[in-house]
Amino acid sequence: MQPVIPILTIDGPSGSGKGTIARAVADRLGWHLLDSGALYRAVGYAAGMAGLDLSDAEAVTRCAQSVKIRFRDPGDGGETRVIVNGHDATDELRTETAGAAASAIAAIPSVRQALVDLQLSFRKPPGLVADGRDMGTVIFPEARYKVFLTASAAERAKRRHKQLKDKGLDVTLASLLHEIEARDARDASRAVAPLKPAADAVTVETTGMPIEEVVAKVLSLLRA
Ligand code: DC
Repeated sequence: MQPVIPILTIDGPSGSGKGTIARAVADRLGWHLLDSGALYRAVGYAAGMAGLDLSDAEAVTRCAQSVKIRFRDPGDGGETRVIVNGHDATDELRTETAGAAASAIAAIPSVRQALVDLQLSFRKPPGLVADGRDMGTVIFPEARYKVFLTASAAERAKRRHKQLKDKGLDVTLASLLHEIEARDARDASRAVAPLKPAADAVTVETTGMPIEEVVAKVLSLLRA
């Protein structure tokens, strides 16, 4: 019998700190990391580059089926680069525009289907930390450990604002809060794989909690 490869799923709304926490926990455990949001962002980006109408489900699905997405570790502890159809799109994928495009195309069931096998292929020894919206509910329902991270919309907008400012991007807090609320509503209300905690997930409310504390809390759930 194949040994079971352990999986920790970390789901939650945008700005809940999933990305940062998932990376820190994966590093600590020496496990692989799946940033599933980056896949949806990459499809949205590739569709935009191809001049597709993002509401054209058939065209965007073909794009999702054919797009080549690679993650490249720079090897110096720096940020993982995302290569889309041979182009390093890491910087473009971070923008709010890319997030909104991702959220729009992620509501198309056949686009989600097109990304399933790629996501499953990240399950490799010694383990996987999978970050997204439907990791514990749809992609890895059998995962041994499941966490759902939340924080108030105001706190998430504040975190995102700081993150973008640190990267030299100029956006207002009010516009971020508005975008976060709109994206939450769209991600939570879509018919397929909506944003919601798995029945067996542990919800961690992170408003006002420093990153280190959240990481420690998640690691303690694994040890429990
Ligand atoms: O985590 P993120 O902000 O990079 O995700 C961008 C969008 O992609 C998000 O608004 C919804 C979509 N998404 C999804 O539908 N399912 C996932 N597992 C991850 C992201």
